[in-house]
Amino acid sequence: MSDTIVIFGASGDLTSRKLIPALFNLYAKGRLPKDSRIVGVSRSKFKHEEWRDSLKESTAKFAGDTFTTELWNEFSDNVYYHPGDIGAIEDFHSLKTFLESIEPEHTCGRVYYLSTMPQLYEAAIKQLGTAGLSDDTEGYRRVIIEKPFGTDLSTAQALNKSIHGVFREDQIYRIDHYLGKETVQNIFALRFANSIFEPIWNRNYVDHVQITVAEEVVIGRRAGYYDTSGILRDMFQNHILQLMMITAMEPPARYDSALVRDEKVKVLHSVRAMSGGDFAANTFRGQYDGYLKEEGVPRGSQTATFAALKLYCDNWRWKDVPFYLRSGKGMSCRTTQIVIQFKNVPHILFGEKTRTPLGNRLVIQVQPAEGIQLHFETKVPDSEMKTRTSTLDFNFQKSIGGSMPDAYQRLLLDAIQGDASLFARSDEVELAWGIVDPILAAWNSPAAPPLYSYETGMWGPMESTKWMADQKREWFDVC
Ligand code: BG6
Repeated sequence: MSDTIVIFGASGDLTSRKLIPALFNLYAKGRLPKDSRIVGVSRSKFKHEEWRDSLKESTAKFAGDTFTTELWNEFSDNVYYHPGDIGAIEDFHSLKTFLESIEPEHTCGRVYYLSTMPQLYEAAIKQLGTAGLSDDTEGYRRVIIEKPFGTDLSTAQALNKSIHGVFREDQIYRIDHYLGKETVQNIFALRFANSIFEPIWNRNYVDHVQITVAEEVVIGRRAGYYDTSGILRDMFQNHILQLMMITAMEPPARYDSALVRDEKVKVLHSVRAMSGGDFAANTFRGQYDGYLKEEGVPRGSQTATFAALKLYCDNWRWKDVPFYLRSGKGMSCRTTQIVIQFKNVPHILFGEKTRTPLGNRLVIQVQPAEGIQLHFETKVPDSEMKTRTSTLDFNFQKSIGGSMPDAYQRLLLDAIQGDASLFARSDEVELAWGIVDPILAAWNSPAAPPLYSYETGMWGPMESTKWMADQKREWFDVC
């Protein structure tokens, strides 16, 4: 079967920075069938050639070393543009006619990528249905939907309902680009392709888990979106809960999209609901100090740009093991890491002179220095029985000897090949909102926990360090 990838929102940033470079790289690696077609759709009145020209420069910039003009010319022969307005059904009819004119008869599969403004998702889906573009009798029809998927549980449910009116669940690919990151997929390998970690990956040995997604960047010119979203909607409902699910899930029987997602969903079902004073005790929020001066941010905005949550999974594996989830903008560096903090040894043999060992830590560095480190105690050479922490360090880049592929390559290829394992299912998205919504409501209530200010370029509010210290724990920082 040959494939057509139709991108709605073709003139947007995501298309030029991520989607086309990813498709180009797949082509360069011989993974995208040679006769695949890419069709951009948006309101601008480009001609095919004009769109190709506008993409050439961005692809050269973002595709990396693979870019050559010769390869681009070959690839871009199959890149087309069709002007269209999501609000105009006649544009979808003309798109259908256009697609049929460039596709071989009867055997063509299609992926529709919705990279438009989220407010247009429902309308776009409806129009695809009305124009007969979702009919998959003559080839697969799949739709990829970018985040954010709704702004709360009820909007996500409504969106799911509208999409299900046109596409079956197995045709829907809700993207979370964190799942396309190599190091996130490597958590599956680390946990389920090794025998040494899984026996201790539970409440008997693990003291707590820390998941940090820190960003150096501030919101820049995104105030319009960010101020209504904030850190919980922007990072926790999707990326961070995804990292938590993969860290906490039970092994599925096979690496199969239904089974993997069943196990992930069970983690969300197990998350302990908060009520009353839990929100003040287990949630923490902050705002970087220059936020209110960012262009477009309303005066006195209470939007959080930093949050830390303590969640529990009430199940046999994790009962009473805290999962500390933390993310912020305007922090001291860009790093995403998962720390499994093991319990300390039950008894220290070496007497008073030895400091208390920290307990072993396994650190999964998702980005930017992709790798895995195991921290363990060793004897200080030429000393009495003193110990210090040493590290076994695995570095992905060094081991593969090249750069890591961008997440969108994996995800686009999976969608084309019909593998939804790394995409969010409807129940997953709704359950995640079910966790985030009550926290947002508590933060908007008179009993909201304080919104701490923090200095841009620091590790979030100082009070968050104290918050951990009060629990006899500490954030593991690696900037
Ligand atoms: C996006 C958020 O989903 O993820 C951004 O909207 C955030 O605010 C980005 O900066 C982080 O992605 P990455 O891959 O750079 O960690």
